[in-house]
Amino acid sequence: MKKLITLCLMTTAAAVCLSCAGNKEFLPGEVWLDNNGVAINAHGGGMLYHDGRYYWFGEHKTEGEGGNRANVGVHCYSSKNLYDWRDEGIALAVAPDGSGSPIEKGCILERPKVIYNAQTDKFVMWFHLELKDKGYSAAMSGVAVSDNVTGPYEFLNAGRVNAGKWPLNVSAETRQAAEAIAAGNAATVPDNDRFLVRDFGGGQMARDMTLFVDDDGKAYHIYASEENQTLQIAELTDDYTAHTGRYVRAFVGRSMEAPAIFKHESKYYLMMSGCTGWAPNAARSAVADDVMGEWTELGNPCIGDDADKTFHSQSTYMLPVEGRDGMIIYMGDRWKPENAIDGRYIWLPVNIEDGRFTLTWQPSWKL
Ligand code: GAL
Repeated sequence: MKKLITLCLMTTAAAVCLSCAGNKEFLPGEVWLDNNGVAINAHGGGMLYHDGRYYWFGEHKTEGEGGNRANVGVHCYSSKNLYDWRDEGIALAVAPDGSGSPIEKGCILERPKVIYNAQTDKFVMWFHLELKDKGYSAAMSGVAVSDNVTGPYEFLNAGRVNAGKWPLNVSAETRQAAEAIAAGNAATVPDNDRFLVRDFGGGQMARDMTLFVDDDGKAYHIYASEENQTLQIAELTDDYTAHTGRYVRAFVGRSMEAPAIFKHESKYYLMMSGCTGWAPNAARSAVADDVMGEWTELGNPCIGDDADKTFHSQSTYMLPVEGRDGMIIYMGDRWKPENAIDGRYIWLPVNIEDGRFTLTWQPSWKL
């Protein structure tokens, strides 16, 4: 009997231990299950920490062909510890097929990010929007709001960014050339500024994007613009639902996508990818003293095997862990364009040292 009790106790202890080892660690590239045992479906995602919980918003992909189109909407999950995820359902649903809405089912709705506005007590979601059946030509930004973090979010509008506004750091040469052309005179626009000038009237293109709220409550929209050749960083209005017209261009002509940002000890750090669609490439990193720049490139932050492919992933968000100063998690996507729903999540700890940051591959790791 005594032996049996001891055996029972040992078995129970082993089971408990296994469950903590199994559940309470990150396994980059494996299938991550939610509370219902279903694979988490939140690609190109972002995170909001609010009232003691993390809320993960991402693209709900579907199976097979066309799985990268928005057939469902933006999916939300929540967690207290970043390991166990509760399905919170669809935060922003696409509009019905045939409705003519910019977010009609079958559009492309990518890289949703949500921030909280303390003044209005509303949650504001921005995303990259491509109109149905128009490929990637629209290059618009959409915005939606909700009184509840998990939604439902109400779609407000979508469009190009900052029409009729010059960036703060436009050169006098480019501005004069643009004004001369608008007045019907001949002038040459510098090569790297062609798309900026072309889109001045109709608004700047915005594709891969993220949002950032600074310590003073000001929010910024950071997006690949100008045919993905140049990144733009634009200030949002106090309620976060529009652009103020103040923006800068960064990394002109460097073709960066997938921007993800964090702040550490008064410095701003960006991670980005090159421009190779769903296929991974070598990441880039940069640092600045002000979110609006000047930005200084720091090179590929990845180290070791597969560093030239960002460990077969592409950045989507840099997550500061609550209550752990200097602990940032790199959130990346390992895309599977042939079956988008099977795309995997690559999360890795960010190592910040000597004014730069690095990432190394970990098959499994804990906070
Ligand atoms: C990637 C981008 C994704 C998606 C894809 C389409 O470079 O980061 O969000 O737009 O291209 O090919």
